[in-house]
Parts: sequence; structure tokens; C-alpha cells
Amino acid sequence: MPVKLMCVAGARPNFMKVAPLCRELGSDPDFHVVFVHTGQHYDEAMSEAFLRDLELKPPDHNLEVGSGSHAQQTAEIMRRFEPVLLAERPAAVLVVGDVNSTMACALVARKLDTAVVHAEAGLRSFDRGMPEEINRIVTDAISDLLLVTEESGRRNLLREGIANDRIHLVGNLMIDSLRGRLEQARRSDILDRLGVRGGSFGVVTLHRPANVDDGGRLRDLLAALEAVGQDTPLYFPVHPRTRERLAGLHAAHESVHFLPPLSYLDFLCLMANSRVVLTDSGGIQEETTALGVPCLTLRNNTERPVTVELGTNTLAGTTSRTILAAWEEMKGRPPKGGIPPLWDGRAAARCRQVLRAFFDVR
Ligand code: UD1
Repeated sequence: MPVKLMCVAGARPNFMKVAPLCRELGSDPDFHVVFVHTGQHYDEAMSEAFLRDLELKPPDHNLEVGSGSHAQQTAEIMRRFEPVLLAERPAAVLVVGDVNSTMACALVARKLDTAVVHAEAGLRSFDRGMPEEINRIVTDAISDLLLVTEESGRRNLLREGIANDRIHLVGNLMIDSLRGRLEQARRSDILDRLGVRGGSFGVVTLHRPANVDDGGRLRDLLAALEAVGQDTPLYFPVHPRTRERLAGLHAAHESVHFLPPLSYLDFLCLMANSRVVLTDSGGIQEETTALGVPCLTLRNNTERPVTVELGTNTLAGTTSRTILAAWEEMKGRPPKGGIPPLWDGRAAARCRQVLRAFFDVR
């Protein structure tokens, strides 16, 4: 009998991590994969388009939880996930990343005595004001297997008292998707549609509550983008959360071009051809490092230090003063950057080996 594994995804950044995992485990006759989509993200552009671009199989279960406050959303995911878990009775639940779905499903599984495997474990920003930091700490504390993307993850987990034999450096699943799709992404016609040439523009994403929920902070960030935009026009696919906050502020910003959320392949193509990316996303810090594209992270900390130490990432802070200073420095001397160990497109294969050993599959 194959070992039944339940893979969970809920929000946009989860899909590119779960896709290579589902594919790799699904190709192993000793495993049977059940894919659950919690529906934390539900817009066509935030969910369906990604499943399509990543050729992810349709979810076996879609919990359709939608949006809500943190408590409402987390509780609703737990309430709807429990009966699915009880019906399917998998040997383990695999969760990825740090979104509310990650923590909610890990909690349900743990309490039903089902093994929890966390991919992208151990990342820490040491900023407990970030909802994702709480999700990471809770998920890691109750996981049986902790798969890390960089050595800092192991160090953080050891410091939190987690046994070394449960921690495995496997590389980065998100980079598996990037490497697997880059050639196809380069054939996207997004540059033509926008009327831009490679290397002549920058890309922006912003969605973190700390940056977009405060009107004053958001206005200052837009002022910084407008100034950078004078040097190099910026293209800004706007997350639905940010769209609400930006309402009324758009018109004044001529060198910043606002776009609807892009599909995975279009966004990858845009990023790969850009001169610089300005972002507060976690995953994009990693993708720019993998692509060798300079990244200014509009935050004061990162849970992904390898992207700064080895990659092309610079922490630029969140005020127009710090961002413009970082941009001036980057313009003069764009970072070269290297590729972190095991970010080679084979992370899913390593996850499979770790899981085979864990379940003693011979
Ligand atoms: C979530 C994750 C964050 C991740 C981000 C990527 C948590 C705590 N946060 O943040 O770590 O980086 O996803 O996008 O899990 N909305 C839509 N359509 C959608 C989804 C959201 O309109 O398909 C709007 C709703 O107004 C919603 C808001 O966006 O209230 C925020 O969505 P939510 O899932 O709560 O968090 P994100 O900000 O997307």
C-alpha cells in the first residue's frame, strides 16, 4: 500500500512550492498524494492562473475559506480541514511556507496525531509583529520533519530546541518551480504588451500589512517609488490587499505603472528582464537571488538572510530616505551575487528521499 501524503496550499506563494512536491511525490509509486487547496486566495489571478501555469493537478479538496480577520480565517481553515483529514486519514500532512493555511492545517493534523512535515522551516525575521513569523514559530514547534532552504533555518531551529535529526537541508522548492518554468516564462509576451525592453525598467510588489495598511507609510513609499521611477520606469502588479489601500492615490504617480496581479509566467518573465526589483515579499527576495537580478527589499529585516549574504538582496528599509540611498548605491554598483547551496532545482527530489527514509519505504 502506498503511503498517503496530504499536500496543503492556500495562498499564492504556496503554489510554486507545492507544485514540484506534488509532481515528485506523485511520480513515486510508494506514495499517494492528496492535494488540498484551502481557498485562502481565491481570485482567478491569485489562484487559478497559478495552478494552470504550474500545471498543478486540480485540488482533491477545495475548502473555499476566503478572506477574514486572522482569527476568523485561521479558525475557518481548521474547521473545514478537520473533516477532510478524518475522511482521508493520510500518514502525514505536508505544509509549506508561512501563511495562515500553513499553521492552521499543521495544528489540525498534529492534534489528530498525524505527522506534520514543514517545508521552508526555520526561517525567522525575529519580528513578532509579522503574522508570518507567528505562523512559522507555531508550525515549526509542532512539526515532525523540518525541511530547510538555508543553513540559517537549521541554526534557528536548533536554538529553539528542535532535534538535529528532524532537520534536513533540502534546498528551495520555489526555485525548483523557477528553474523548471524559466524557459517557458521567457517566451511570455508581457514585455511587448507593456512596450518595454529588457533591462530598461524595474518591478515593484508591495502587500505587507506593515507597509500598506498605514496611509502615511504607503504615501512615503510611493514617493520613493516615484523618485526611482524617474531613473527607471517601474511596473507594479498590485495585490488585492494593496489595491484597496491605494484607491485614490494612483493618479499622481506617472513613472510608476500600476498593473493587475500577473500570472506566474508573466511575472517571472518581467522579473528576469528587469534592472531592479523593489519588494516586501519573502519569496521574491529568493527568486531575484536565483535570477541574479538586484533586489531592494522594502523592509528592515529578512527571514531569508542568505539572499543578502550570498545573493543580490539589499535591505532598503521602509522610508523614502533609506530606499533612495540604497537605490543610489545599487545604481553605482549592482550586486553580483551567487546562488545559495542546493538552490539547484532538485529540492523536491531531496524532499522525496527524506520522506522515504522517514516512512522507511524500501
Ligand atoms: C497572504 C499571507 C502572506 C503572503 C501573501 C501573498 C498570511 C498571514 N499572509 O497575505 O504571508 O505573503 O498572502 O499574497 O497568510 N484578497 C482578494 N483576493 C484573494 C485573496 C485576498 O481580494 O484571492 C484580498 C482580501 O481583501 C483580503 C486581503 O486581500 O482580505 C488579504 O488577503 P489575506 O489572504 O488575508 O492575506 P494576504 O495579504 O494576501
